[in-house]
Amino acid sequence: MTVLQARSVSKTFDTTDPPTPVLKGIDLDVAEAEFLVIMGASGSGKSTLLYALSGLDRPTEGIVTLAGRDLTGLSEKEASQMRLHQVGFIFQQSYFLDNLSIRDNILLPALKAAGTKDRSVSRHIDDLLERFGIGHIANHGITEASGDQLQRASICRALSVGPQVLFADEPTGALNSSMTEDVMDAISSVHDDGTTIIMVTHDPVVAARADRVIYLRDGELIDELHLSRVTETETRSKEDELQSWLSANDF
Ligand SMILES: Nc1ncnc2c1ncn2[C@@H]1O[C@H](COP(=O)(O)OP(=O)(O)OP(=O)(O)O)[C@@H](O)[C@H]1O
Ligand SMILES: [Mg+2]
Repeated sequence: MTVLQARSVSKTFDTTDPPTPVLKGIDLDVAEAEFLVIMGASGSGKSTLLYALSGLDRPTEGIVTLAGRDLTGLSEKEASQMRLHQVGFIFQQSYFLDNLSIRDNILLPALKAAGTKDRSVSRHIDDLLERFGIGHIANHGITEASGDQLQRASICRALSVGPQVLFADEPTGALNSSMTEDVMDAISSVHDDGTTIIMVTHDPVVAARADRVIYLRDGELIDELHLSRVTETETRSKEDELQSWLSANDF
């Protein structure tokens, strides 16, 4: 089953002179429960594509369908409802309010999205905080948390609405390797639950966890690698397979 579909998606920013096409006719199908990674050089359009796919931004041309619904045809109000209820985001930097506790940073937007003070919402948030190993610091301030704890809090916030797709733009870009592993374990466990993940990363170690990696060059999808179809051997791992594919694409 396809959960997300892009057809001839193009994006041109008219803020530049001359206006430059950043995405050029992207076609993409993402299956339900798939873990998709987008790679490519800096400036190739990865973030722009992620925002177009998630409804955070509108493509200049083309159609994006999420769970059968054309995102490009939504009104501003419908689009913001969709962003509140159907998709979750994690960015490289976690955007939290310094004057609220970790828990309140997640709970308050969740209550707003749910439109109710029902206790089930706060129970759900507490379960998420426990699950991702930050229950014990839930009442601490944001500034007391480490980088990986903040990213796990971002995952809790993204999951608080039960999204159909979890989008992540370089979620480990600011973390060291042990923190990266820790955050990727959390993201992989979300995928194991059956949530579709679409993630941008520069890190081949991180990308090796995906089912499929697509490669973007100058706004065009030029290649894809189905890692789920790669059989690991004693001498060759998925990471090796990905590395040689990346070199073939001049990464
Ligand atoms: N709001 C904007 N206005 C004008 N140009 C933009 C805007 N956002 C992105 N661009 C341009 O679009 C191109 C692609 O940017 P994008 O951020 O999608 O690349 P990226 O692949 O995510 O790069 P990075 O790996 O550095 O994050 C760049 O040339 C960038 O300058
Ligand atoms: Mg980017």
